Amino acid sequence: MKHALLTALVNALRRKSTPFSVLDTHAGTGLYDLSGPQAQSTGEWRDGIGRLLDTDPDAPDLAPLQSWLGIVRGIIHAHDGKLFYPGSPELIARLLRPGDSLTCCELHPEDQRSLKALFRHNPAVSVHGRDGYQAITALLPPRTAKRGLTIIDPPFEQRDEFTHLAAAVIEARARFPGGIIAAWYPIKHRAPPRAFLHALKDAGQRNLLTAELTLRPPLDPGRLNGCGLLVAGPPYRFDEEARSILDALRPYMGEDETEADVEWVVPE
Ligand SMILES: C[S@@+](CC[C@H](N)C(=O)[O-])C[C@H]1O[C@@H](n2cnc3c(N)ncnc32)[C@H](O)[C@@H]1O
Repeated sequence: MKHALLTALVNALRRKSTPFSVLDTHAGTGLYDLSGPQAQSTGEWRDGIGRLLDTDPDAPDLAPLQSWLGIVRGIIHAHDGKLFYPGSPELIARLLRPGDSLTCCELHPEDQRSLKALFRHNPAVSVHGRDGYQAITALLPPRTAKRGLTIIDPPFEQRDEFTHLAAAVIEARARFPGGIIAAWYPIKHRAPPRAFLHALKDAGQRNLLTAELTLRPPLDPGRLNGCGLLVAGPPYRFDEEARSILDALRPYMGEDETEADVEWVVPE
């Protein structure tokens, strides 16, 4: 869900000819080997991207996902049928035009090394081994472009991650008011994401849209029951586009309790 929406956000930036810049604060490795031991041990991808890859690429119901799935299929093809799945930096990098740029932050040393290797011949992409939240303060607004997107996708391994995320969204908007911000969050049960969205509302934030997909009612806090993407300052009519993306995804995700929802938390 995150990557389909992210692709749509970058495509929205591509509609104008002036350059844009993307900051990916928690970038990961860039490419995930789905045939490797880690992905094989959980096999989670089979019930996610795996189901979508088993479809006819021209199926009309998947049209809203076509740009993203086209990139994913292209990467699989380029690796001789081996399953490498593109993470956010690789997806974004493939959508950059001459003059556009991407800055990635990744703290984990091994992931950082993989990312640096992946982009060593791409001067449009820079990789920093720095804290992604600090990068918002240090690197926004971008020096190279007046338009852009910040994607904040933390691992949610710490209890106070929602608090950091809210502060990061507020900071990013203050530093780069015209920029788009996308922030991913888990939905285990309803209370933590609600508190996060309320905190933003109470801080006076406007123009906030959420896209959420739940695989089952979020009642068991011990499970990842769904996830959401907060988009602050979304592009024109992104709400409609997000709805069509989630509607296209829904039949392929989870079993029969899957629900998708796009909502204005605070309108413009
Ligand atoms: C959810 S993963 C990112 C996935 C990636 N954005 C994607 O969509 O493909 C989160 C990543 O953040 C990294 N990380 C954790 N804390 C960080 C921090 N404070 N600053 C930057 N990266 C961090 C982790 O090593 C992990 O690779």
